[in-house]
Amino acid sequence: MATPASSLITRVAYGASQVPRVAWYLGHGLALRRLAEATRRSNGAKARVHTSAAVPDRAQLYADMAKLFLQDLANVESGIYPLPFDHDGSLLTLINRSRLFFADLPEIHRRRESRAYNEIFNKETRGRRPRYYLQNFHFQSGGWLTAESAERYDTQVEVLLNGTANAMRRQALPQLYDLFARRDQRQLRLLDIGCGTGRFLDFVKQAWPRLAVIGLDMSEAYVSHARAHLRRWSWTRFVVGKAEAIPLPDRSQDAVTSIFLFHELPPQVRRRALRECARVLKPGGRLILQDSLQRDDHNDYDGLLQLFPQNYHEPYYASYTKEDFAALASACGLVPVRSVLAFVSKIMVFDKS
Ligand SMILES: C[S@@+](CC[C@H](N)C(=O)[O-])C[C@H]1O[C@@H](n2cnc3c(N)ncnc32)[C@H](O)[C@@H]1O
Repeated sequence: MATPASSLITRVAYGASQVPRVAWYLGHGLALRRLAEATRRSNGAKARVHTSAAVPDRAQLYADMAKLFLQDLANVESGIYPLPFDHDGSLLTLINRSRLFFADLPEIHRRRESRAYNEIFNKETRGRRPRYYLQNFHFQSGGWLTAESAERYDTQVEVLLNGTANAMRRQALPQLYDLFARRDQRQLRLLDIGCGTGRFLDFVKQAWPRLAVIGLDMSEAYVSHARAHLRRWSWTRFVVGKAEAIPLPDRSQDAVTSIFLFHELPPQVRRRALRECARVLKPGGRLILQDSLQRDDHNDYDGLLQLFPQNYHEPYYASYTKEDFAALASACGLVPVRSVLAFVSKIMVFDKS
């Protein structure tokens, strides 16, 4: 039971880690906007993105971010997960990642201006990965294929999301807490598909250090990065593979999670990936999908959902925002349990009966 003193310590410790973190990424975002405006002015170009739907103003964005962090803290205070460590690395690491982030901006700008998103589809990569995967998603250098891309990824995502990406990922943990309650974590298995650099799995391990987890991703570079990021933990395994052909036996997992993956998949691949999740889950197991808000989830944000794929190369995002996941999951034998919004993300929960 938390005493007033321990609760105060928790709040101070939480604020001391999260406030500077958000300020760091908000500062990057501010610099980014200034650079973009300066470039536009010097080119005499007008902003090309447009939407007629509602877009939140800064005050609303900050209020909704505050709500997310208060929920994160409430989860800690109620014992759902411990005080989180973002494990961003030393100040030197952060500065180095920031340097990599800014150094790549001219290349991203060039690709955006010339709509160049097929640079990683070439004779070395052709046939080694599905065609849809071999694109410069977000106009990023190296697509998903290089170690440099993996090193830049978390800075890019945190800047895009004003330093909220990790806090949003943690909002999937209560859905696992619910499933794992009163069970021996050493007997349970969790698979995270499209694990990327492993940030979500790190929070899973902070909450359940003896849970056996597998991170699956199609990128060798991202898997290597995730392996290094999670080296402090045992009972972790990584597999290079496809979400639509998971190389694991039927009924082998108690939980399957997927964070920010499904908007990157073409509609037919999304369906195959969902079928695979259902196949590898044990009866009574749970699928937790976290991704962007969808259309009409939060009317004030519908404009942002239209602007995002205009600014970043996201060829499947528009179809994602209209996808009926409850219907797709039901067709695979998964029962929709609930959906929870967390800032600009949504967590969808499905159980295998
Ligand atoms: C937007 S990132 C999300 C990463 C991570 N889950 C996170 O929380 O940030 C998408 C990741 O999914 C991987 N990916 C994309 N399509 C995939 C597929 N069909 N199968 C497995 N991984 C895939 C990419 O390599 C990339 O690491």
